[in-house]
Amino acid sequence: MKNALFALALAVSQNLWAETPSHFLDTYSAEAAKSQPGFSANAARGKAFASRNWGVSEKLPSCTACHTDNPRNPGRHAVTGKTIEALSPSVSTARFSDPAKVEKWFKRNCKEVVGRACSPAEKADFIQFVIGAR
Ligand code: HEC
Repeated sequence: MKNALFALALAVSQNLWAETPSHFLDTYSAEAAKSQPGFSANAARGKAFASRNWGVSEKLPSCTACHTDNPRNPGRHAVTGKTIEALSPSVSTARFSDPAKVEKWFKRNCKEVVGRACSPAEKADFIQFVIGAR
């Protein structure tokens, strides 16, 4: 019985650990400010980052190649053609709630598109752009 209660408490608390988009924005911004004092995330910079053709991958030149240039729109995988849910958390409520998922996809997509890991400043700008999309 004690064990069952413990498992239940654990399950509940894990659920409560779901993060919010602004948590990620704040965390990456604070990280960026360490090397760029006064850093403040900027949606226009995020938009330019997302649509920039990085010239690394022919098939995946930019983030918008799969996610479209409007974060409120569903995306389409440029290689497999599979539909990707919109990145905007006001459209897809699970977006930017799971740290493991956010990190996994930033890592994978940045490597493919940009050819390296994205910096905390780039991540903060990208999130600012995505959550601000109207
Ligand atoms: C090859 C197509 C493709 C490209 C190009 C791409 N993504 Fe993605 N992205 C995906 C897929 C697929 C997922 C995960 C599936 C899902 O969550 O719907 C994803 C998920 C994400 C997530 C997870 C968000 C969350 O919390 O659910 C982030 C952040 C993200 N992408 C950022 C980027 C950035 C930044 C770039 C450009 C550097 C980029 N993506 C380029 C296909 C792509």
